[in-house]
Amino acid sequence: MSNNQFDNKSAAWSALFSEPMSELVKRYTSSVFFDKRLWQVDIRGSLAHAEMLCHQGILSDADHSAIQGGMAAIAAEIESGNFDWKLDLEDVHLNIEARLIQLAGDAGKRLHTGRSRNDQVATDVRLWLRDEIDLIGVLLIELQKALVALADEHAETIMPGFTHLQVAQPVSFGHHMLAYVEMFARDAERMHDLRARVNRLPLGAAALAGTSYRLDRERVAASLGMQGVCQNSLDAVSDRDFAIEFAAAASLAMVHISRLSEELVLWMSQSFGFIDLADRFCTGSSIMPQKKNPDVPELARGKTGRVVGHLMGLITLMKGQPLAYNKDNQEDKEPLFDSVDTLKDTLRLFAELVGGIRVNAQAMQAAARKGYATATDLADYLTKQGVPFRDAHETVAHAVKEAITRGLDLSELPLEVLQGFNPGIGADVFHVLSLNGSLQARNIVGGTAPEQVRAQVLRHRQRLG
Ligand code: ARG
Repeated sequence: MSNNQFDNKSAAWSALFSEPMSELVKRYTSSVFFDKRLWQVDIRGSLAHAEMLCHQGILSDADHSAIQGGMAAIAAEIESGNFDWKLDLEDVHLNIEARLIQLAGDAGKRLHTGRSRNDQVATDVRLWLRDEIDLIGVLLIELQKALVALADEHAETIMPGFTHLQVAQPVSFGHHMLAYVEMFARDAERMHDLRARVNRLPLGAAALAGTSYRLDRERVAASLGMQGVCQNSLDAVSDRDFAIEFAAAASLAMVHISRLSEELVLWMSQSFGFIDLADRFCTGSSIMPQKKNPDVPELARGKTGRVVGHLMGLITLMKGQPLAYNKDNQEDKEPLFDSVDTLKDTLRLFAELVGGIRVNAQAMQAAARKGYATATDLADYLTKQGVPFRDAHETVAHAVKEAITRGLDLSELPLEVLQGFNPGIGADVFHVLSLNGSLQARNIVGGTAPEQVRAQVLRHRQRLG
């Protein structure tokens, strides 16, 4: 046998096979052109495994250093683009191992002692995902900070709050932005929670049943910064629930971005005119010279479908797989990689885009004046005078009808007219009917009063650091 038993793929399992693998099958089954992005974690995992083998007396010091030297050379080759990735060698694991054997000889052949590609790949994906989750955590903080800054600036900027996309009650733009901060805070919390389940070590499970070597699994886990080891070998090599959980959390984060996007697109349309996005986030039209299109939010809304689709792909991939490892699991990578890439790019862009939102406070305020947004305030005013709320509701409906007939806002009706609906109404009603009065009145935790918005801004700033 040549020094490199993996010179070609069918030779990797060698003796048993009497014909080479078909070209089509080779292409169909290989994953190297997408899983090579796991090379760093693959090497990290191998080095931790080798160190432990040596510590346990399973691998000699000389072999251990040969493996370390070989891996350093391989890392340098990959980084400089000089590594020769071979389709024949199926995946990132076999490619790196084959090269190690070329460089380190028998020491390289000893690396796989007590290990299988099944626990190796599960380890790689977990390590990779854990580090990506940490980056996503940072990006979620950046986005929240940008939203909090905008909220702070606009604690008193009044806009119409909507239900059913009909003007409902005035809210502050700052309050509206803080709603998204809450969503992204929960997204960050979800990422943090699931990280703990991602960050466990499969190595030691070997192919499926564990291994007869006296491995120190805890040692490997600690050296890779993992929180403990997977406690059942069959489960360790086969389940990808950690990736599915991530895909679900990523989908939710994208859904939140998509909702924000939808609002930005609406608000930027001429019919609303609430905001403008910085030019660097927009594109023009090749035919209509006047156009400035909110492409980034539109694309983010579109890409949300893609990430949600990956969640469906991953969860369906798992369904129907018997224990333990099945090759189906090789299909976990592309959806996972693409979900991570899409979410990271989108978060990064949005943290910047939010910072570039220009608010047209006048347009917002004018829109808030349009739909009798303070009608509830009048009902509350009457209720506080002892009128049962349901009766007050009815009275105000009549007042609104009258105002519509006259083409006026409630606050523009003469006092006598208002008193015609209820004699208890006094001149103080005009403050109640004003947009500012309405906002200030909602001075309750979670409410839109500027005082509350400022308190929330402070709380978020302390939380976000
Ligand atoms: N490329 C494979 C994957 O991504 C690695 C594990 C292969 N294991 C096996 N027994 N064929 O899942």
